[in-house]
Amino acid sequence: MVKICCIGAGYVGGPTMAVIALKCPAVEVVVVDISVARITAWNSEQLPIYEPGLDDVVKQCRGRNLFFSTDIEKHIARADIIFVSVNTPTKTRGLGAGKAADLTYWENAARMIADVAKADKIVVEKSTVPVKTAEAIEKILIHNSRGVNFQILSNPEFLAEGTAIKDLFNPDRVLIGGRETPEGKKAVQALKQVYANWVPEDRIITTNLWSAELSKLAANAFLAQRISSVNAISALCEATGADVAEVAYAIGKDTRVGPRFLSASVGFGGSCFQKDILNLVYICECHGLPEVANYWKDVIKINDYQKSRFVNRVVSSMFNTVSEKKIAVLGFAFKKDTGDTRETPAIDVCKGLLGDKAKVCIYDPQVTEEQIQRDLALNKFDWDHPVHLQPMSATEVKPVAVTRDAYEATKGAHGVCILTEWDEFKKLDYVRIYESMQKPAFMFDGRNVVDPQKMREIGFIVYSIGKPL
Ligand code: NAD
Ligand code: UGA
Repeated sequence: MVKICCIGAGYVGGPTMAVIALKCPAVEVVVVDISVARITAWNSEQLPIYEPGLDDVVKQCRGRNLFFSTDIEKHIARADIIFVSVNTPTKTRGLGAGKAADLTYWENAARMIADVAKADKIVVEKSTVPVKTAEAIEKILIHNSRGVNFQILSNPEFLAEGTAIKDLFNPDRVLIGGRETPEGKKAVQALKQVYANWVPEDRIITTNLWSAELSKLAANAFLAQRISSVNAISALCEATGADVAEVAYAIGKDTRVGPRFLSASVGFGGSCFQKDILNLVYICECHGLPEVANYWKDVIKINDYQKSRFVNRVVSSMFNTVSEKKIAVLGFAFKKDTGDTRETPAIDVCKGLLGDKAKVCIYDPQVTEEQIQRDLALNKFDWDHPVHLQPMSATEVKPVAVTRDAYEATKGAHGVCILTEWDEFKKLDYVRIYESMQKPAFMFDGRNVVDPQKMREIGFIVYSIGKPL
């Protein structure tokens, strides 16, 4: 029986390994983590992450060929293939702070592998890492090994949150990069065989290590660039009376462009787009390519502009001040169908409104109050550095109010901001909401969830991204 160990039981490690276990009954999969709380949750009825379909997959194989454990050393020692899926945050201090990837967690994992390995191992980069990380990892492993051979593979993950299980069941492609030596090729084949249990062979791409590492950064940069492109056009739509949904539809009908990933929004969020582009920018700068670095930097600049443009629109529409006004925020997660708030645009929008002294009241169907309060209290990039994450004390001043109901959040509010495209926000009773609000009642739709015409008929003053005012 092939034995797999995955270091890191997060948004990637957990679902990815659960699907491998489900699709490969002959493989034993153990997911390990330094976080006792996370492993306890993976072994409980309340999984640590919300992802449609995940509960079902875990229930089918947990205890059969899928295990979650904190005994990292034991399971590394036993495994043939070790996936490393730890966090790779943006550095917050020192060389490259604010841009470069912090590989501390990765390096710790590699040193642990070198320490405990007594037989040959295939080590797979699952985390998103800078190009040439495999070379660094190889150095750590080889210089610390006691006669053990290591093959490093790059196997970046392309799943999106909210659709992780669907993406893993039916991936557009699986990418495996390895050394072009006989041992390297053998390792690539071994990993390919695992995926071939359910992924058609023509969707399993094999490349050299550096192409695989760079493809992941480039793929995220391309996706984010599409959103910044449509968001840039949304500003022009508002200035000219064009409708961004109509423009995006017309552009997307060109088969060379395609219709997906062209929804204008308050900005992209999530743990990876910004982090990975900053990482790409840093690598370009290190290689003396400032023009290329600046090109990608602008994708982030437009995203920041879109978020501040939204806040400015709220404040300027409401007679240039929101001081002491109740603003209801519907949605805090970075996209629908996830409870994840990492780099969610809602953080910047709420901080902007709080900066103008608004009384912000938030409702999200999946995000806890503790998470929201903590996110609003943290400094940029600290969310991905566990050392900075202290539980909030009971006496700490909470910057915002959080409700478990959209009607409570909007009651008595002067304005409503929709910041996540949850399906339930389409079905709310907006007449009831309008009647409970202060007048004039403002609606700022950052996700184009509601029909602005219908909202105007109810009586709202409406602003939707990229739509005629
Ligand atoms: P995460 O923070 O949810 O999970 C990482 C886990 O690694 C944490 O639970 C942490 O405790 C654990 N960890 C850190 N150091 C460890 C060590 N030395 N030993 C054992 N466990 C350790 O992060 P994530 O969202 O799963 O992302 C992981 C990687 O995958 C990142 O590089 C990210 O860029 C990449 N990625 C993420 C997504 C996504 O949708 N979230 C998609 C594709 C790629
Ligand atoms: C993204 C990529 O889609 C995955 O392929 C990749 O594996 C992952 O990053 C990663 O490396 O972490 P994810 O961030 O989970 O996945 O979610 P997306 O669906 O890409 O959405 C990212 C952000 O862009 C969200 O805030 C979303 O609301 C926003 N978005 C997306 C738009 O504003 N408009 C769109 O048309 C699409």
